[in-house]
Amino acid sequence: MKVTVVGAGAVGASCAEYIAIKDFASEVVLLDIKEGFAEGKAMDLMQTASLNGFDTKITGVTNDYSKTANSDICVITSGIPRKPGMTREELIGINAGIVKSVSSSLIAHSPNTILIVVSNPMDTMTYLAHKATGLPKHRIIGMGGALDSARFKYRLGEALNAPISDVDGMVIGGHSDTGMIPLTRLATRNSVPVSKFMSSERLEQVKEDTKVGGATLTKLLGTSAWYAPGAAVSGLVQAIACDQNKMYPCSVFLEGEYGMNDICIGVPVILGRNGIERIVEIELTDAEKTNMQESADAVRKVNDLL
Ligand code: 2OP
Repeated sequence: MKVTVVGAGAVGASCAEYIAIKDFASEVVLLDIKEGFAEGKAMDLMQTASLNGFDTKITGVTNDYSKTANSDICVITSGIPRKPGMTREELIGINAGIVKSVSSSLIAHSPNTILIVVSNPMDTMTYLAHKATGLPKHRIIGMGGALDSARFKYRLGEALNAPISDVDGMVIGGHSDTGMIPLTRLATRNSVPVSKFMSSERLEQVKEDTKVGGATLTKLLGTSAWYAPGAAVSGLVQAIACDQNKMYPCSVFLEGEYGMNDICIGVPVILGRNGIERIVEIELTDAEKTNMQESADAVRKVNDLL
């Protein structure tokens, strides 16, 4: 199993590290345009192999896509991250050109690969990857909902004073501070609806804290987060690489599902060896449907900037 990660910045390097530690891939190629940067990160990570107990081989390359050839899965993290006060959508001017070029370079060497897009604005970058590559829809996946759901579970565990292992919850919709939809109605504490344990006001606060989870960290860190994004995308890679049939909310190209067409937005999907094995259509309340439509309208506005 060969995985390429484009972008050796904090998110890409964290993703490579988590993939290696989980030890399901034979090789991870880490590529960056900055001379020697990916080579340095890869070498530093390989020097943890005996300490963290993995055999995965991590190789760093500077802008040489021939070294990514025949990758089963390619992750695109390249592009500029947010600064405090910025929205993800403001990154489109620079990141669109990068994602278009990177996607084309990747599939030129790995025509059968499965692409996972992380770069922001992620839903629009995923949509761009479709237009730029023409890959079948089941082989292009946007990572946003997996991260947002992890943040949702963090906030739920905090509010419940419960271990994260007891908590479940999913976020769908656009990966944006205003567009994401934490499904509070379906969140559970060991199969019991969380509404049994907290007031509607507290649950609403959990929802709002989740939506700005990325911006909260950008304010604290001065740049975008990287541990949870890297861990979230490594989970998608593992689900595909190990054919887990695992369900995650991911940004995928819709052709009528959820009543939508010609858009990439976060919905539940089953991930396996083929990438998206199945898009799962869950029953939404009228309020959730309205939120989804508003979220899609916002994503389309950003898509129109392409
Ligand atoms: C985040 O929410 C980088 O979009 C990513 O942290």
